[in-house]
Order: sequence, then structure tokens, then C-alpha cells
Amino acid sequence: MDMVTIGSITEAPGAAGAALPEAPTAVVGAAGAGDTAPPRAPAARTVDAVKVYGRGETEVRALDGVTVDFEAGHFTAVMGPSGSGKSTLLHAVAGLDGLTSGRVFVGDTDLGTLGERRLTRLRRDRIGFVFQQFNLIPTLTALENIVLPLRLAGRRPDPVWVGEVVSRFGLDGRTGHRPPELSGGQQQRVAVARALANRPEIVLADEPTGNLDSRRGAEILSFLRQAVRELGRTVVMVTHDPVAASYADRAVFLADGRIVDELRDPTSDSVLDAMRVLGG
Ligand SMILES: Nc1ncnc2c1ncn2[C@@H]1O[C@H](COP(=O)(O)OP(=O)(O)OP(=O)(O)O)[C@@H](O)[C@H]1O
Ligand SMILES: [Mg+2]
Repeated sequence: MDMVTIGSITEAPGAAGAALPEAPTAVVGAAGAGDTAPPRAPAARTVDAVKVYGRGETEVRALDGVTVDFEAGHFTAVMGPSGSGKSTLLHAVAGLDGLTSGRVFVGDTDLGTLGERRLTRLRRDRIGFVFQQFNLIPTLTALENIVLPLRLAGRRPDPVWVGEVVSRFGLDGRTGHRPPELSGGQQQRVAVARALANRPEIVLADEPTGNLDSRRGAEILSFLRQAVRELGRTVVMVTHDPVAASYADRAVFLADGRIVDELRDPTSDSVLDAMRVLGG
């Protein structure tokens, strides 16, 4: 297997003009254009999404009729108490888990109409996913984990881009380590880097900063925000942290599988206030 060598990766960030990839849709008005910018089609959305686990006595309505748009070129934070359905929603949007009823669209594509093969291809080509539990392969090195989705898709990693991500996440010198040899925070950064390696249109990140100190967390959040502002990507991030949510353009709040509130341009204070009111 012709894995990208660590040498070429660690040298890559120095390369001049490490051109960051363009998103398929241009950034309209970029940051601050908010009110006047024309509305953009959502990058992903759900319509009356219901997910029921179990049945009878043990039935859990993890999603109880969620209709939500994730606007293209926006950074959305998904918040809510433990068990409110945040991960379930993210998994449904990524097509990792089917709904009991309702629909999920990525762009114009109704995921419910896709067979397994086309769904897999859509996930590989258009979506980057950061799992709450990282889901790294313990027998592969950090770098091999990062480029794995590309390898599976039969695509060649762009060493400049991968190097940029590795370096920005402070993983230089760690790329040859396997996950059990990495700290929790390093594993988390590898998981985020892996989600970005294929330059996806949409990044779905389930608590990507949950295990990080504030400096490392801020680096990842800044990078995600930059991917939105400068590259026109769409980011949907689950978080419990009001400071993390303040990096987003919008925060939506889930409780018991329903959307119960929403904030535009959240600040950590406005998020805290909303959490107090919602009892989260
Ligand atoms: N595979 C499953 N089988 C049965 N119940 C499940 C399953 N996955 C999730 N649930 C239940 O669905 C509900 C929503 O779970 P989910 O993981 O989406 O919550 P969450 O908001 O992400 O919570 P947390 O903040 O703790 O990660 C919970 O009550 C959970 O127990
Ligand atoms: Mg969760």
C-alpha cells in the first residue's frame, strides 16, 4: 500500500501556496453579511425526523419530529442535555443510521432513496464525520487513520492539505503513533483531521473539543470556523460547551428529541442563558 510517507506530510505545511480547497458553492458575502445575503439552499436538512429505538417498555424516541435546516456555508452548533438526541441527529444527517420516519436531505438528495452503495459513496465524497468516541483504528498509525477514508474511496491524499491539517492540529511528530500511544486529546485531533482529510462539503462533528484543553479546543474551533468563512464549508457541531458554541453562526437546542430553541450569532452568555431557561 502506498501510504503517504510521514516525511512528505511533515514537510508539506512549509510549501508555498498551500492552496486551500474551494467549496463547490462560493461564499456569499462571507462573515457579517448575515441579514442582507440572499438565503442559500441548505447543505443538509431533516423533515419531521423520527428515530425510535427499542419497542414497548424499552422504547426510546431519540428523535421526535425534528425539522431543521443546516444552511450551506454556515457553522451550526447543536446543543442539549445528555440523551436529547444530538448524536442520533448527526448520525441520521450523515446517513450512518436510518430514520424510523421522516426524511433527511444532503443538498437535493433524499438519503432515503439511496441504496447502500450510493449512500456510502455520498458519505465518502461529501461528508466528514467526527465520532463522539473517535472510532480510530487502533492498529493503524495516526496518519494512516487520517487518510483512511480517502484510501477507502480509492483517492490519493493531497499531502499539502493533509500536512496543513496535521500541522494546524499540533500532530506533527505524532503521525507515526497508533491511537493507544496517543493521549485522548491527540486522538480527538486525529479524529477531526480524518474528517477534514477529504475536504468534505459538510463536516459533522460530535463534540470535537470534548477532550481538549481550551487552547487546543480553540485551535480546532478556529479551524472549523475558517473552513466555513473562507472555504464555504458547512459545519454542524454537537457541543455542551457555551464557549465552543459561540464560534458558530447559530445554535439549535434539542430536548427530548425535539428542537426547542435556536439562537443566531450565539455568544457564550446568550447560550448560557438559553441553557438556564431550558434547564440544560
Ligand atoms: N443504539 C441505541 N439503542 C437504544 N437506544 C439508543 C441507542 N442510541 C441512542 N439511544 C437512546 O437515544 C437517546 C438519544 O441518544 P443520543 O446518543 O442521540 O443522545 P445525545 O444527545 O447525543 O447525548 P450525549 O450528550 O450524552 O452524547 C438516549 O436516550 C439514548 O439512550
Ligand atoms: Mg452524543
